[in-house]
Amino acid sequence: MARDSLVVGVIGGGQLAGMLWEAALPLALDLRVLARRPDDPVVGLLPDAQVGDCNDPGTLRRFAAGCDVVTVEHELVEPMVLETLAATTAVRPGPAVLAVVIDKAEQRRRLRGLGIPLPPHLIAVGASQLIEAGHELGWPVVAKVARGGYDGRGVEFVDGPEDMVALARRVPDDAVFVVEPHLALDGEIAVQVVRGADGALVTYPVVRTVQTDGICRFVTAPAAIDERLRRQAAAIAGRIAEDLGVIGVLAVELFVVNGTLVVNELAARPHNTGHYTIEACTTSQFANHLRAVCGLPLGAPDLMVPAAAMVNIIASTTDPLDRRGALAHPAAQVHLYGKAPRPGRKVGHVTVCGADPDEALDHARRAVADLETAGATA
Ligand SMILES: Nc1ncnc2c1ncn2[C@@H]1O[C@H](COP(=O)(O)OP(=O)(O)OP(=O)(O)O)[C@@H](O)[C@H]1O
Ligand SMILES: [Mg+2]
Repeated sequence: MARDSLVVGVIGGGQLAGMLWEAALPLALDLRVLARRPDDPVVGLLPDAQVGDCNDPGTLRRFAAGCDVVTVEHELVEPMVLETLAATTAVRPGPAVLAVVIDKAEQRRRLRGLGIPLPPHLIAVGASQLIEAGHELGWPVVAKVARGGYDGRGVEFVDGPEDMVALARRVPDDAVFVVEPHLALDGEIAVQVVRGADGALVTYPVVRTVQTDGICRFVTAPAAIDERLRRQAAAIAGRIAEDLGVIGVLAVELFVVNGTLVVNELAARPHNTGHYTIEACTTSQFANHLRAVCGLPLGAPDLMVPAAAMVNIIASTTDPLDRRGALAHPAAQVHLYGKAPRPGRKVGHVTVCGADPDEALDHARRAVADLETAGATA
């Protein structure tokens, strides 16, 4: 990376690549993307966006040839294919990290080995193991496909053996699942840490997250939890980042159950629960991800405001959004991803900073609600 201009290749062309691009501009980094589809959000924005199959070694090699470093914004790339780049181009986080985070079963194995607190769970393949897992853990359970799920897709709440049989019929015989009891959660929190190429670590505030139907609806920062849990969540995230050798953002989602923490899942990339950092923190998760993968010093992660809330805009119809409605709230920071609305699709988010997390949340929700008439809900 001796040249003046650093070229960062991002595998994926979704909204995360778009927000990385925004963060790359003031750092004078040259961002290139390899998108999956011509209608991915950044394809129209970046003049040299490429569209192709990231799991085709030739396509990936040609894309990486002009890059100083390659990073990812989704979990759909095969670590083995990325491995083929490793001799010629820096891949950050590395393929070994991606091999863990793209697979929920692998995450659990690794975290269990580290002694990280986890929900009770079993790994199951095929109808009979799935049903056995339900009997052993006690119904109702949650069955999560180990690979390829997101935004609640691939997460099934299963009441009993009949539902499990129906689920097993809908998936390939060799699909691997993580099965866990349907827990009564006190709440959910998340934390992002960023680890630099030199091992430096910064930790963002612990945030409260609220999901319904498996999809993140909103995030408030800072989380109103006791100091002991906050410290524990931050320590867990730092420990995992160090053990895996992550370079870039590591996001850790945790459940609070009976006043204690267990880790739900990991992502080694900028994460929806960290979008609030764009407006609320000294350095956004996107800027710090770029700094980390480029081997640059990390920026401070501190909140610059007392509180912030981020509300996702989830389409409920295919009607176009009325941006005017949200923009009528002057304090709302509106991010529309340029994605065609479809029911259940995340098409944007709104962040409001303020004196109090609940007030900020209320304000952000009102801004999103004003898109509602045109087909979106919070
Ligand atoms: N064992 C459980 N008990 C109760 N609720 C659960 C359980 N597992 C998952 N959930 C709920 O479902 C949500 C989605 O689960 P999970 O994070 O595993 O799925 P995902 O689709 O991979 O999520 P993401 O969109 O973050 O990638 C959780 O945030 C939580 O609200
Ligand atoms: Mg999740």
